[in-house]
Amino acid sequence: MNSQGPLLLLAVIWMVLAAMAAPAAGQAKPGCPDSCGDVSIPYPFGTREDCYLNEEFLITCDNSTSLPKAFLTEGNINVTNISLDGELHLLSLIAHNCYNRNGTLQDNLEPYFRLSIFSISGTLNKFVAVGCDTYALLSGYQGEDLYRTGCMSICSSKKQVQDGSCSGAGCCQISFPEGLKNTTLILSSYFNHTEVHDFNPCSYAFIVEEAAFNFSSKNLSNLQDIEKLPMVVDWSIGNETCQVAKTNQTSYACKENSTCYESNSRPGYLCKCFDGYHGNPYLDGCQDIDECKNSSLNKCVKKARCKNTPGNYTCSCSKGYHGDGRDDGDGCNPNELQLIQVSLGMIFFFALSILLKR
Ligand SMILES: *[C@@H]1O[C@H](CO)[C@@H](O)[C@H](O)[C@H]1NC(C)=O
Ligand SMILES: *[C@@H]1O[C@H](CO)[C@@H](O)[C@H](O)[C@H]1NC(C)=O
Ligand SMILES: *[C@@H]1O[C@H](CO)[C@@H](O)[C@H](O)[C@H]1NC(C)=O
Ligand SMILES: *[C@@H]1O[C@H](CO)[C@@H](O)[C@H](O)[C@H]1NC(C)=O
Ligand SMILES: *[C@@H]1O[C@H](CO)[C@@H](O)[C@H](O)[C@H]1NC(C)=O
Ligand SMILES: *[C@@H]1O[C@H](CO)[C@@H](O)[C@H](O)[C@H]1NC(C)=O
Ligand SMILES: *[C@@H]1O[C@H](CO)[C@@H](O)[C@H](O)[C@H]1NC(C)=O
Ligand SMILES: *[C@@H]1O[C@H](CO)[C@@H](O)[C@H](O)[C@H]1NC(C)=O
Ligand SMILES: *[C@@H]1O[C@H](CO)[C@@H](O)[C@H](O)[C@H]1NC(C)=O
Ligand SMILES: *[C@@H]1O[C@H](CO)[C@@H](O)[C@H](O)[C@H]1NC(C)=O
Ligand SMILES: *[C@@H]1O[C@H](CO)[C@@H](O)[C@H](O)[C@H]1NC(C)=O
Ligand SMILES: *[C@@H]1O[C@H](CO)[C@@H](O)[C@H](O)[C@H]1NC(C)=O
Repeated sequence: MNSQGPLLLLAVIWMVLAAMAAPAAGQAKPGCPDSCGDVSIPYPFGTREDCYLNEEFLITCDNSTSLPKAFLTEGNINVTNISLDGELHLLSLIAHNCYNRNGTLQDNLEPYFRLSIFSISGTLNKFVAVGCDTYALLSGYQGEDLYRTGCMSICSSKKQVQDGSCSGAGCCQISFPEGLKNTTLILSSYFNHTEVHDFNPCSYAFIVEEAAFNFSSKNLSNLQDIEKLPMVVDWSIGNETCQVAKTNQTSYACKENSTCYESNSRPGYLCKCFDGYHGNPYLDGCQDIDECKNSSLNKCVKKARCKNTPGNYTCSCSKGYHGDGRDDGDGCNPNELQLIQVSLGMIFFFALSILLKR
């Protein structure tokens, strides 16, 4: 018999138990799926009635494939990450116009983003167009007003296009304001790509998370293989300010130990845990973090005693030491009185032993 057998079994049991204990406070309503594939779905989002706050927070889970996919409401927009601080990461379609050598339009797509309560983040995304005979228009609504902007990308040879430079030759990019809704991307061309067809038969336009796109001259042709790119949208609860929302405690979304703040990109509000608390502020409220359980969460020196308090912790030095007990403060130092007593004692002892030796 292998003597390591029982040990191994114990290790496995321990690992299974640890894994079961690992998921922190529930992020979804009890009885509701808290993830779809590798996307976790925290409340106020949910996959069905009674799981979401209201149907605007519906995430559809297509679990017909081995790796289930999450979609925004009923749309064809893949969701890749949901964060409770008002950001949602998703994949959005690329607009393209592809031409034949003789200049007839062969294939085109001009996506439209309705996005229910969400709006496209103006700080984290850019509007980008790629092509050598391309002008692209971004058209959307800011409240009731139509907002339009666009950029143009022209080049006559591949030599003019530089990797990493998106400033008008082969690639152009612009920023746009916060809060755009009902947005559509429109592409046009001056000569239907007839003069650049050898190296660039298509025009492309997309809204992309700025950090996720770095232009390369190869993109003039290889974007054809890509259907979607990452984009960030903002979400919030309702369309009221915190002050107004608080007046109706039945509909107010921020639970115990959390505070309300207003989205700076759109109407409505968000909730966050008080400092020193964690959890889901929209679900059962936030719980105190025990900073003393984990030395990386507190700044008490080794000699000090750490005591958890609601929202914070204190460090106190043991008897005979003084100071604030913090490693960013003055730590714990032996009391002077005691130091004097000890040194006096030692001097006395030495003196005595010298005297006695004589
Ligand atoms: C797939 O999703 C449906 C509806 O969300 C659910 O009823 C079903 O149990 C899910 N199946 C699996 C294998 O997760
Ligand atoms: C996004 O959804 C489409 C189905 O519409 C699927 O084919 C594709 O693999 C998904 N992409 C990701 C990254 O999940
Ligand atoms: C999702 O977003 C959160 C918060 O922004 C981040 O901590 C986490 O790593 C992200 N998850 C994935 C899979 O990208
Ligand atoms: C352009 O080319 C396509 C096929 O490549 C052909 O079907 C079409 O008739 C042509 N159009 C003109 C105006 O020549
Ligand atoms: C360019 O394409 C558009 C749309 O397909 C078409 O109406 C127009 O006649 C074309 N122009 C040329 C010069 O081929
Ligand atoms: C973008 O690509 C260029 C050239 O391919 C490279 O020099 C640069 O470091 C890249 N920048 C980022 C932010 O990835
Ligand atoms: C956006 O589109 C929806 C549906 O087409 C419409 O009900 C809504 O009024 C539009 N919003 C704006 C600001 O145009
Ligand atoms: C642009 O081209 C580079 C180099 O081939 C590639 O790594 C990158 O994925 C392309 N970007 C997109 C969005 O297709
Ligand atoms: C706020 O939302 C409510 C309900 O969705 C709607 O009736 C109301 O018109 C909205 N108010 C504003 C100022 O948009
Ligand atoms: C408070 O919110 C609840 C739930 O949304 C709603 O039914 C009720 O009418 C609201 N009360 C007031 C005074 O607006
Ligand atoms: C915790 O207490 C320390 C010292 O009193 C203070 O500096 C710090 O801001 C407090 N932290 C929180 C999250 O309240
Ligand atoms: C809120 O914080 C207080 C003090 O830490 C705690 O007693 C209470 O249980 C917390 N509420 C919830 C819902 O965890």
